Amino acid sequence: MRLENKVAIVTGGAGGIGQGIVKKFLDEGAKVLVVDVIPQADGDTLIAELATGRGAAYLQKDISVEANAAAIIAKALEHFGKLDVLVNNAHASKQAPIMDTTQEMWDLSFGTGMYATYNLMRAAHPELKKTQGSIVNFASGAGIKGLPNQVTYAAAKEAIRAISRVAAHEWAADGIRVNLVSPVALTPGIQQWAAAYPAEYQKVVDGVPLGRLGDPKDDIAPVVAFLASDDARYLTGQTLMTDGGSTMSA
Ligand SMILES: NC(=O)c1ccc[n+]([C@@H]2O[C@H](COP(=O)([O-])OP(=O)(O)OC[C@H]3O[C@@H](n4cnc5c(N)ncnc54)[C@H](O)[C@@H]3O)[C@@H](O)[C@H]2O)c1
Repeated sequence: MRLENKVAIVTGGAGGIGQGIVKKFLDEGAKVLVVDVIPQADGDTLIAELATGRGAAYLQKDISVEANAAAIIAKALEHFGKLDVLVNNAHASKQAPIMDTTQEMWDLSFGTGMYATYNLMRAAHPELKKTQGSIVNFASGAGIKGLPNQVTYAAAKEAIRAISRVAAHEWAADGIRVNLVSPVALTPGIQQWAAAYPAEYQKVVDGVPLGRLGDPKDDIAPVVAFLASDDARYLTGQTLMTDGGSTMSA
């Protein structure tokens, strides 16, 4: 098991790709603090189903609130005594053409995406330094390609890539690796977007050379687990395009 004895935090772990990561991490032997906005009782029920006696706990926290970053790290330490891996997966946003985009949309995307990632990275740093741990952040083809109607999301995602590269440089000497996954996967988030922008969704589907959208647990989570594991000990500052070949860099 690749993540045996590792303790991880997964934001947005109650749904979509995050839940796939939680399942995979548990299968790989990690202990996981799942952070999401669903009510505490629902999260506890989910953990009871997913973890079946393995090491996992749920914490209801809105990651866009700055003060919550410290509380999230403290809860992981309280439950599991250390922190090896931070997965900044959660990100909420609303799509609109640039001319219809509001300040509220900017605040939502940067609050849950860029600032939440940044605040959690900073709060986790002292603990990750102790364990020589790693961070996995989330990018998107929407940012890399500049997809229409995604201005606040695309900008936040590219900002996350920028701060990840800076942290990969600054924290390499502390033994902390920082990488990103840019996924394509069938999730509630994607389904919501597909309903609003069916033509753009079809373009994304048609643009996947491997011919299908990824599965959160079986296609995306293994790549996150690899980056979090010691197998990736010589990788930092990288974005792994886990998108069925939609974006090729070879
Ligand atoms: N699904 C894709 O194809 C795709 C493509 C590119 C990038 N991504 C990125 O992958 C990650 C996961 O995407 P997904 O499709 O699973 O998303 P999703 O919307 O399906 O799930 C996101 C999860 O985050 C939680 N969440 C939302 N706001 C939160 C907050 N303020 N605090 C805590 N938790 C919060 C939600 O409750 C949900 O469980 C995101 O960073 C997303 O931008 C996904």
